[in-house]
Amino acid sequence: MKLKQLLAEKIHTAMQAAGIPAEHGPHIALSKQAQFGDYQANGILGAAKQLKTNPRALAQQVLEKLDISEIASKVEIAGPGFINIFLSQSWLSENLNAYIQDSRCGVEQSQKPLTCVVDYSSPNLAKEMHVGHLRSTIIGDAVVRALEFQGHKVIRQNHMGDWGTQFGMLIAHLETILADNSVAEVALSDLETFYREAKKRFDEDENFANTARDYVVKLQSGDAKCLELWQQFIDISVSHSEEVYKKLNVTLTREDIRPESAYNEMLQGIVDELQQQGLAVEDQGAQVVFLQELADKEGNPSPVIIQKSGGGFLYATTDLAALKYRGQVLKADRNLYFIDARQSLHMQQVFTLAKKAGFVDQDMSLEHHAFGTMMGSDGKPFKTRSGGTVKLVELLDESVSRAKALIAQRATDMSEKEQQQIAEVVGIGAVKFADLSKHRTSDYIFNWDSMLSFDGATAPYLQYAYTRVKSIFAKAGVELEQVNGPIAIEAEQERILALKLLQFEDTLELVTAEAHPHVLCQYLFELASAFMSFYEACPILKSDVEPQTKQSRLALSRWTASVIKQGLTLLGIETTEKM
Ligand code: ARG
Repeated sequence: MKLKQLLAEKIHTAMQAAGIPAEHGPHIALSKQAQFGDYQANGILGAAKQLKTNPRALAQQVLEKLDISEIASKVEIAGPGFINIFLSQSWLSENLNAYIQDSRCGVEQSQKPLTCVVDYSSPNLAKEMHVGHLRSTIIGDAVVRALEFQGHKVIRQNHMGDWGTQFGMLIAHLETILADNSVAEVALSDLETFYREAKKRFDEDENFANTARDYVVKLQSGDAKCLELWQQFIDISVSHSEEVYKKLNVTLTREDIRPESAYNEMLQGIVDELQQQGLAVEDQGAQVVFLQELADKEGNPSPVIIQKSGGGFLYATTDLAALKYRGQVLKADRNLYFIDARQSLHMQQVFTLAKKAGFVDQDMSLEHHAFGTMMGSDGKPFKTRSGGTVKLVELLDESVSRAKALIAQRATDMSEKEQQQIAEVVGIGAVKFADLSKHRTSDYIFNWDSMLSFDGATAPYLQYAYTRVKSIFAKAGVELEQVNGPIAIEAEQERILALKLLQFEDTLELVTAEAHPHVLCQYLFELASAFMSFYEACPILKSDVEPQTKQSRLALSRWTASVIKQGLTLLGIETTEKM
């Protein structure tokens, strides 16, 4: 249920009835301390300032018009003119009971589903996926899952880098290796090594470098032999990425790949159109657009090169074509890009230019959801001991083997196979949660010990909390789905837990509006902690617990388990029944 929206509507209506113009919103926030109630409306202060009247008196007038008695047990004016709202116990119980059998944990399908085109993961295929691709892949996937759960139409776009000058060098190298009767799969089993060898030849052997350059041109003009070599390379590289996606439990499939090469045919048209509109001009043989909108402090416009002097196109040209396609063919309402913060200027240029040239509608939402870098313990970008890039597959495998060692220490009654399965769920979950729980825009330090800890805001803590709830049902000898309450809230710990459960939908709204999965991570941690406190204070299975109380508490537990599981699923993190 949309708790915040419900309160906002009530207060907003009362504000207008008290004579405050409608443009002043109620600004509902969670109260920071229990003494201030559950929610606080802060909007009256701003309104009073503009109306030049006393805020407390204005708040009093709003209270007189406020019809909230069935929801709140108490409302009061606080501080300079805030309104504190205390939700009523019976209203909380009633709402929980209304949703108890809801498989969507009380989250409604959007009434206005949007078409959301989401660009994420998008690795370059010349090399293997490394840790630098982790963030885009998992943050994008979490937001995609949440959008879909809310009922929006999501079109995933894996904008893989499969085009450009490096591929001339790579296919020229592949050609010589295949001539030696080697098999492409073997030669390309380690893309890093392959890339390094090709680069070395390119730098040292003039003949090879010429062939490589020649192949770039041939490739772009559709030469069959070059295309075939290129296709072999791409297929193998894509299957490397798929292996990573599978390990990582992300929802990307082959159908979601729309790589750079898919836009090849559109590129000249983009340049022509920009020229015709007088936006692109020749500058030292190249085609350049100068954007005054993004001028620097001295007033110099921001240059966007869209065609090189030799005729080649650029990363920006392809992104303009992709955006045009997303607007005109996919008919996106929202375009979300999950790309490293270092590409912020590039994205701004593409967005500004696409609107200016009319490639997309003026009101289309263009969103670059940037993120910071994953750092090593030395505070520098995460590298191997020898300073190389860390392959994503290797990082994930290490996490699973570390999780396995931890689980072996804890569990004595599990088979080797069970331990392995749990280690995979915990190891992958730990890496993902550690990343997703950080505010996306900040850099963060990668740390094995903290992410694999069973205490604190981590995947293992939440996965363990889930098994704890499940074990209550095992002890009680009932299936989770058989427990239907009714819920009657009495103890304070029950109340805190109940309120958290009803805030799930509000949390998801924050996740998808701002593309902020960390809000969901924090929420799930608080929910699991609220459950632990409830469980300590409120016995469920003790023999002297009244049957109705037992049913009520089991129903609260049922709902907690469902929300933890659903929440983790939306983060792309699995749960296990035992741990
Ligand atoms: N392939 C690019 C890279 O690895 C990321 C592409 C992101 N998407 C886009 N539409 N530019 O840096």
